[in-house]
Amino acid sequence: MRFGIKTLDEAQVEGKTVLCRVDINQPVDREKGTLKSINRLAACVPTVKELADKGAKVVLLAHQGSDIEYKNYYTTRPHAKVLGELLGREVKWIDDVCGPAARSEIQKLQNGGILLLDNVRFVAEEQTLFEMKLRLTHGQQAKTLLVEKLAPLADLYVCDAFAAAHRDQPSLCGFEQVLPSYMGRLFEKEFCTVSQVMEAPARPCVFVLGGAKISDAFLMMKTVLERGVADQILTGGLVSNIFLAALGKETGQGSLDFIINANYGDYLEKAKGLYAQYGKKITLPEDLAWVENGARREAAIGEIPADIAAVDIGGNAAKTYREAILNAKTVFVNGPMGVFEQAPSEAGTKAVWQALADTEAHTVLGGGDSITATEKYGLTDKMGYICTGGGALIRFLTGEELPVVKALRHGAGLCEN
Ligand code: 3PG
Repeated sequence: MRFGIKTLDEAQVEGKTVLCRVDINQPVDREKGTLKSINRLAACVPTVKELADKGAKVVLLAHQGSDIEYKNYYTTRPHAKVLGELLGREVKWIDDVCGPAARSEIQKLQNGGILLLDNVRFVAEEQTLFEMKLRLTHGQQAKTLLVEKLAPLADLYVCDAFAAAHRDQPSLCGFEQVLPSYMGRLFEKEFCTVSQVMEAPARPCVFVLGGAKISDAFLMMKTVLERGVADQILTGGLVSNIFLAALGKETGQGSLDFIINANYGDYLEKAKGLYAQYGKKITLPEDLAWVENGARREAAIGEIPADIAAVDIGGNAAKTYREAILNAKTVFVNGPMGVFEQAPSEAGTKAVWQALADTEAHTVLGGGDSITATEKYGLTDKMGYICTGGGALIRFLTGEELPVVKALRHGAGLCEN
């Protein structure tokens, strides 16, 4: 048991039917019917393999895309093929979630057999808008179609979907109300790693916060400052532009227009308040970069031309951030320093990511853009821990109890030992 949740070390799975919720949500190419990335599939292999090796009948439940990310809303058929290749064994797939066809396949499973059901979000109760509008309690989730149809066929439930742990949906929180429940190996690794950062980080503990997801960054920043988790926050991207503008520093009219047009005006006040209270711990870039006629230009704060839009931190800021990262013992990273996808505006992100690779500190990265930057610079093997979760990780770091963590703690109480 770790953090009130049972681990697979405590589960007897031989000959048992195990419902295992994984997060294998990946960008898809709907034209070709293929996956654009397979990192989350690779990440859940240890749990699926362990269950199958121990003789469980493994039924995998997963979502792909959603009603609010419709471009990736797709069948899980390609995932079964990729997972089979990664595992080196057959992964059956059925184009049904909890209807008669799916239930019959589950009943036919042999010990060690693996079956992936179709996208659980093809069932209406799993949709995010349902979750937001209905706000079913976990007890009510136990009475949803999915749980009522599948739970009677299963002996236990395993959740390995830390990346979806912020979702309060039946496949994630309903089964724990009626079945003995455990966290899978990936869930255990991710949850324990991020809990460690929040509870007892090796110090100095430096947060690198950039990117454009402002509400996430501000919530997270407030929590880690209030709780004394962060010793220093290095800011970049839109986060630093907002702080600089809030403090009356020139960042260029283009930067300001972006903040106002994206409706981030309220964050100027929030930034002012946070800086007034925690300014000593919040590091802002001493220079910025912008692009003029396709070429990179840089200037110190105070000398920024009035009409530019900042797209990266400058070279001096990158050096200062590198020093701080090399001197840290824990570094948590969410969000790039600038528009790293384009050559003239990538230097800040590239330099900071190189520092992350060079430091001896324990580095923890999360969020889609941070992972993309790590892959772009070929540094994946150099990072301490890359979390598969974006939204879940951020919600965890804002101090909220994640719905799936709460449900798994409940499900631990239904276990025999
Ligand atoms: C993610 O991609 O962050 C997880 O798979 C959760 O997906 P969701 O935001 O569609 O719930």
